[in-house]
Amino acid sequence: QHIPVIAIDGPSASGKGTVAQLVAKKLGYHYLDSGALYRIVALAAKAQNISWQDGLSLADLASKLNISFKDGEIYLNEQNVSEEVRTEEMGKGASQVAVHPALRLELVSLQHSFRKAPGLVADGRDMATVIFPDANTKIYLTATAEVRAERRYKQLMSKGIHANLADILLDLQQRDARDQQRTVAPLQQAKDAILLETSDLSIEQAVRFVLDQSN
Ligand code: C5P
Repeated sequence: QHIPVIAIDGPSASGKGTVAQLVAKKLGYHYLDSGALYRIVALAAKAQNISWQDGLSLADLASKLNISFKDGEIYLNEQNVSEEVRTEEMGKGASQVAVHPALRLELVSLQHSFRKAPGLVADGRDMATVIFPDANTKIYLTATAEVRAERRYKQLMSKGIHANLADILLDLQQRDARDQQRTVAPLQQAKDAILLETSDLSIEQAVRFVLDQSN
């Protein structure tokens, strides 16, 4: 039978992960954090001395990884790597490994396997365009670069991590450019996706918007 998918794409630090998780919780759906997969590959590659530039080796590595998600935590070979993959370094690494077509292809079936009853909320860059083109609801969730940098800054500060707002903004802009300009599965709004500009919205308002669109 047809299992519903809500696809939420958008740039870094747009808040799509937070919104997607809350929507999944509200509906009792499964949740896929596709960015985490690219982050895990970047982490595992670093540990095994595989270059983030070597697409074929990265694809081979990904085919052998044992990745699982339990209660919002991320596991690589039974080891909890939730904290390690969230670092800025692995965010940058993820956006570098993500340019390789062979790696992206390798991760397709793993992403499809998250589509289970009663439904799935998937967030990333190419959920609506490539991975789940038949998604019932497609949302392109964004905010201005300045607002996103501020959100990331506050998030880091709340964790007691020292950060510089100007550096964060520059990093975000570089990552946006890399994600938008790559040839495979670039970050873009799907033709049939609804734009959700969250610069002036609270998390609750954004969640409400997605829920309203999905029924
Ligand atoms: O969403 P998150 O910031 O965790 O993603 C990290 C990086 O992984 C992104 O900058 C992007 O380059 C890549 N990515 C991707 N396709 C996805 C999800 C993430 O290319 N579906």
